[in-house]
Amino acid sequence: MEAKAHIWIYMPDLTIKEKLEDFGPLISPRRDKDTPIYNWHSFKHSYSRDLVEKLINEFELSSHSWVLDPFCGGGTTLLACKEFGINSMGFDILPFSVFLSNVKTRNYDVRKLKQRLKTFESNGKISPSTIELPDIEIINKAFNNEVKNELLRLKQKIDSINDRNIRDFYSLGLLSILESMSNTTKAGGFLRIVQRDVSADEVYPTFLARIRQMIEDVVSLNNNFSNVKVCARTSDSRKLSTKKKFDAVITSPPYPNRHDYTRIYGLEMIFNFVESNAELKEIRYNTLRSHVEARKRFNSNGYKKPPLLDELITKVKDAGVNNPRVPEMIEGYFEDMYLSISQMQKRLKPDGKIGLVVSNVRFGGVNIPVDEILAEIGEQTGLTTENILIARYRGNSSQQMKKYERNPSRESIVIWKNS
Ligand SMILES: C[S@@+](CC[C@H](N)C(=O)[O-])C[C@H]1O[C@@H](n2cnc3c(N)ncnc32)[C@H](O)[C@@H]1O
Repeated sequence: MEAKAHIWIYMPDLTIKEKLEDFGPLISPRRDKDTPIYNWHSFKHSYSRDLVEKLINEFELSSHSWVLDPFCGGGTTLLACKEFGINSMGFDILPFSVFLSNVKTRNYDVRKLKQRLKTFESNGKISPSTIELPDIEIINKAFNNEVKNELLRLKQKIDSINDRNIRDFYSLGLLSILESMSNTTKAGGFLRIVQRDVSADEVYPTFLARIRQMIEDVVSLNNNFSNVKVCARTSDSRKLSTKKKFDAVITSPPYPNRHDYTRIYGLEMIFNFVESNAELKEIRYNTLRSHVEARKRFNSNGYKKPPLLDELITKVKDAGVNNPRVPEMIEGYFEDMYLSISQMQKRLKPDGKIGLVVSNVRFGGVNIPVDEILAEIGEQTGLTTENILIARYRGNSSQQMKKYERNPSRESIVIWKNS
């Protein structure tokens, strides 16, 4: 276990504070499993609505403020900002994340949503599907033919809806039942195959129940916040496609833990966002180098690799990790994060604040203090580190535990101010 008060390696007069009770419970999406709209899709890598609310208050944001989230994921920052009357803009490289963020934060015409539901309730009118999914192996492992055909029958009907808002709403309803209708589960960094033996007869009622619940959520919540500006777009965090200036950034980048979002959300991507495996792979290669298949995309002029990093990478190499590309991944991750943090700094107004949630990681028993290294990298871009708040400790994997004993890594919130 790491000690309670930590002297920051790069700035000995800054003490990293343990804030387990204040922030620990807010880091996980489990807190929102029953929160309407926030729970429209199981996005395992989200933090909670309450974390965003707490940071909005700490950063003293108002209805005139604009918040940026360059890794918007499940859209939690954008939705919470909307709920608390703050304008926001999100970006993500995964088209599914951009879609999810937009669908969760739109205002809907309830009458139109309900009218459309009636056409789905008369199940008999839906013809057999004539569409196919891209030929990608995971689909055959995930669904038996009958279940797949039933899902495609629904997809075909949804795709033919002209009104984009309504179509997207119904598409999300379908995408959000894929995991439970499949023989897969989102386990840590990948899709694990499990045997669920779902019957094709379950697909339609599950979809209808989902849509009814979503409409109920819209009736009770969504249109209360109609004046707030919010949108999500596809963009790379290392080269953000906006010239706008923001009052704050509230975000959480991928952690350098080898999780590959194009695989974890592979079913969703294959159902609606790519036409071939080559297209899916291209997105995979272009994601941040937090997993071994991502590739270098941009040069990082001005980045000074923190000396500690070389020491740690040598230790990881000496420890002999099971994938030889891990040391290169760790190195690439911090270079990509330099580029991403530089973009955040450039888009921030003077005195603007950043709250960035990140976890330390362990490879071959070597602890990589990601929070501290990122804080140092932030200083290189012109930011001032105000604090590193330790929110919780996460256990190492059972495999690692056998080899290196229980050795949890901390998950923290790095707070910077723009000078
Ligand atoms: C930890 S998740 C963000 C979760 C989000 N804070 C939430 O509460 O739902 C990280 C996100 O970064 C995205 N990502 C990975 N590489 C990226 C890149 N180069 N540019 C933008 N987004 C990227 C992933 O697709 C993923 O959605």
